[in-house]
Amino acid sequence: MSSPLALPILDAELEDRLRARMVEVEGSLLAHVESEAPFVTKAARHLMEAGGKRFRPLLCFLAAEAGTGPTEQVLRAACVVELTHLASLYHDDVMDEAELRRGAESANARWDNHVAILTGDFLFAKSSELTAELGPDAVRIQAQTFSRLVEGQILETLGPGADDDPLEHYLRVVGGKTGSLIATSARYGAMFGGAPEEIVTALTEYGEKVGVAFQLSDDILDIASDSDESGKTPGTDLREGVPTLPTLIALGSTDPADARLRELLSTAITDDDLHAEALGLLRAHPAMDQARTYVAGLAAEAKGLLGALPDGPVRTALDAFADVVADRSS
Ligand code: IPE
Ligand code: IPE
Ligand code: MG
Ligand code: MG
Repeated sequence: MSSPLALPILDAELEDRLRARMVEVEGSLLAHVESEAPFVTKAARHLMEAGGKRFRPLLCFLAAEAGTGPTEQVLRAACVVELTHLASLYHDDVMDEAELRRGAESANARWDNHVAILTGDFLFAKSSELTAELGPDAVRIQAQTFSRLVEGQILETLGPGADDDPLEHYLRVVGGKTGSLIATSARYGAMFGGAPEEIVTALTEYGEKVGVAFQLSDDILDIASDSDESGKTPGTDLREGVPTLPTLIALGSTDPADARLRELLSTAITDDDLHAEALGLLRAHPAMDQARTYVAGLAAEAKGLLGALPDGPVRTALDAFADVVADRSS
């Protein structure tokens, strides 16, 4: 999957600047995954070269435009967030036993779990090395972000406790595993782009909400899309028994007509026929539209935070960015 996230930007100069920065970031990313061991370079480049939307670097550059604009530090910060994200994908595919990523074989499928885990560690290390060049504040933020990301992944694995509300638990998971890094992408951009403090704060919160909306959209797409569209195997969450917004809404239904779906969703579904049946029932279920409505609400909240920014092309583009995230799953 190499298609860039389509972002309708009405201002030609802003679009040109972002485009140039996105080209630069590609070169920097490649340079930062070099290892003295050729195999490590090959394994680290594997998913990097497979594509990806580069959503986090784009948000970082866009947020920097709310200040005096992208500097060398913003470029470094954009690499840091993409490298952290990339590392987390290597590990995530091991946890989820996923075989397809960015339209290519996942590292665990191409090699094995050991290679995938250690390549993820290598990428985290490279990302940390680069963060050190951004100074102690950035290192602290990166460490806090990474803690939240890992906590989210662990909480997802554990599942809700007996006293936890499953939906609240899920939203906490999503805030941690995805919201945290997308919030930091916006925060770094605004910080290193020299935006005033109140704008840094507003864009951090904006990033968190957009990040959660992004993951919820992704979860909806895991059910609704085919692999050509997503570059991943559809229905992976169902197969792994990972609860997501549509399945949690469907599980909360008391309608007797949903009894079969609730039964299927009560456990991980590894049998191919049962998996196809559950996917079919879910795709036709009103829970899908309810989930989409929830995502649209989050995008609206994110856009509300942009009131801290002056009117102009940057605010308009950030507004559109939130819409693109929500519309992905509609
Ligand atoms: C995938 O992220 C993992 C999630 C947080 C949903 P992306 O959808 O940004 O993945 P790439 O970078 O485009 O492959
Ligand atoms: C990915 O979560 C989150 C991280 C990589 C931290 P998912 O497991 O839901 O994402 P996909 O569907 O594999 O991209
Ligand atoms: Mg996964
Ligand atoms: Mg996962």
